[in-house]
Amino acid sequence: MCGIVAYVGEKNAIPIMIEGLKRLEYRGYDSSGLAIFDENNDVKIYKKEGKIVELERHVSHVMTKYSPTVGISHTRWATHGVVSEVNAHPFCDSEGKMALAHNGIIENYKDLKTNLIAKGYEFKSDTDTEVLVHLIHYYYQQDKDLMKSLKQALKAVEGTYGIAILHKDYPGQILSAKKGSTLILAIGNDEFFLTSDINATIKHTKKVIYLEDGDIVKLTKEGYEITNSQNILINPEISEIDWDISAIDKGKYKHFMLKEIYEQPTSVLNAFRGRLAEDLYTVRLGGLSQNYADLRNVKRIQILACGTSWHAALTGKYIIENLTRIPVDAEYASEYRYRNPIVPDDTLVFVISQSGETADTLAALKEARAKGAKVFGITNVVGSAIARETDGGVYIHAGSEVGVASTKAFTSQVTVLVLLAILLGRMRHMSPTDGLTHLEELKKLPEKIEKILTQNDHIREISKKIANSHNALYLGRGVDYPVALEGALKLKEISYIHAEGYPAAEMKHGPIALIDENMPVIAIASKDFLYDKLVSNLQEVKSRKGKIYAVANEGDTLIGTIAEEVVYVPETLPALRPILNVIPLQLIAYHVADLKGLDVDQPRNLAKSVTVE
Ligand code: AGP
Repeated sequence: MCGIVAYVGEKNAIPIMIEGLKRLEYRGYDSSGLAIFDENNDVKIYKKEGKIVELERHVSHVMTKYSPTVGISHTRWATHGVVSEVNAHPFCDSEGKMALAHNGIIENYKDLKTNLIAKGYEFKSDTDTEVLVHLIHYYYQQDKDLMKSLKQALKAVEGTYGIAILHKDYPGQILSAKKGSTLILAIGNDEFFLTSDINATIKHTKKVIYLEDGDIVKLTKEGYEITNSQNILINPEISEIDWDISAIDKGKYKHFMLKEIYEQPTSVLNAFRGRLAEDLYTVRLGGLSQNYADLRNVKRIQILACGTSWHAALTGKYIIENLTRIPVDAEYASEYRYRNPIVPDDTLVFVISQSGETADTLAALKEARAKGAKVFGITNVVGSAIARETDGGVYIHAGSEVGVASTKAFTSQVTVLVLLAILLGRMRHMSPTDGLTHLEELKKLPEKIEKILTQNDHIREISKKIANSHNALYLGRGVDYPVALEGALKLKEISYIHAEGYPAAEMKHGPIALIDENMPVIAIASKDFLYDKLVSNLQEVKSRKGKIYAVANEGDTLIGTIAEEVVYVPETLPALRPILNVIPLQLIAYHVADLKGLDVDQPRNLAKSVTVE
């Protein structure tokens, strides 16, 4: 996912931008660049393929000559055009007077490019973004007014953008525009920042304005001017970020992923803190309170998401159906958006997204809206594109999740889904006793998670036995099945070991053919009415020399006679079980990847948020 960091103030812009770009590395990128005004107010562009330290080295000579106080910078995650220095941002116009960085996708870039080539423009890159800089140049030749030229150009553009521009004729100014790609104005003391992600600027200020689609910002060290999509000068409310820089430092941990796994006692607590209405044996979800009538009358729920968030959605299906008897469909957003989905009356749609920027999920949200449905969000990033697009929703309050492999977001998403199930259930037949039982059990989760985390060393030893495998199978039944899927995704995305999650009963319909001594089987053996059947499945695995590693409940004396190794977790209610059972699987994936010496926080080919389709 691309990212923008821009600065205007009194300080040297280069180190501020470089550090900001490094805070965006977790989003995934393959090249980076920056543009500044030099001592003659000429626009200078520096860009490099590869890691940001390459760019840092490349501009280090600039840092010794003078201190530019205005700049724009960018990390690129290739969508259109190969990974190369030529295709890195910022781009300059044909006269070398303007620099532009862009986050998003210009859907109609081919037509625009054809028209611009016909007008004599030459393209250096094969990106969609380069059409923007030439299109603005084309209008600027006529208007000699940068703001007007930008507006003209954007009228011709279809797609999404977060843009930052420098121009020689406007020294000391940054021009910016936003549509469909998050862009935030951060307000410091006599300095201002533009960023795609608060992580890049939280060190400098907690005061931010979340720009809206259609906003255009003129930024100088004296201040900012924002005009909205109706061309009206506006003065939006300034928000205050409620977390600080320590949340995005690894601290004592080797990787962000490990830190975020260990944050789960707190992040799960924060997901339900202040939301338990114990006096009424239910919960309160402020972000949905305007829609309680809809929740009361809902006949069907559709949950749309991608990746780990879809695993949370599938977990939510089991939980909500079991506690409320409302039918729930967990849908891959990327499929839903193109399937001409059926959205019956009295259907509520929820979208789950940690980043709030996933393009497929945002598009599926809009498709559900087009079908007339109300859409609520379960997201983590305040002010994200998805959070702003929904009719309401629930923030999971997991704090910034930097590791590409999602961990604490999953457990917080499931926690919020449990809260939703209790709220819906108590609006129907769920008794005060049942409601209270779930609230009491929720409150015990943090200490139960702490207890699981004390087994980290034991889990690392288990990981050593899996690390050299080429495949792995994850099995679970009932609400443990989506947890098996999530465990498999964790392993494959950071250790590059192929792994599949399966409903345990499905083994006999094919996967059992895969079982031999080289196929580790990670099984979730919760002590419930399906336990005996799961044990039978594991006996079938064992009889074919499969190596079994189990997650089971404390006090289980049988599983240890079948499995090579067992991680025991505290018992809890079925609805809360996924929140505990997933943690050993997160640690297994983490340790396997770490033992293999891989880049745990930024696995190959992956981005933290997939803003492309
Ligand atoms: C999960 O570990 C992956 N990083 C990925 O599957 C992720 O869950 C997916 O891209 C959805 O992201 P979102 O929750 O930000 O929408």
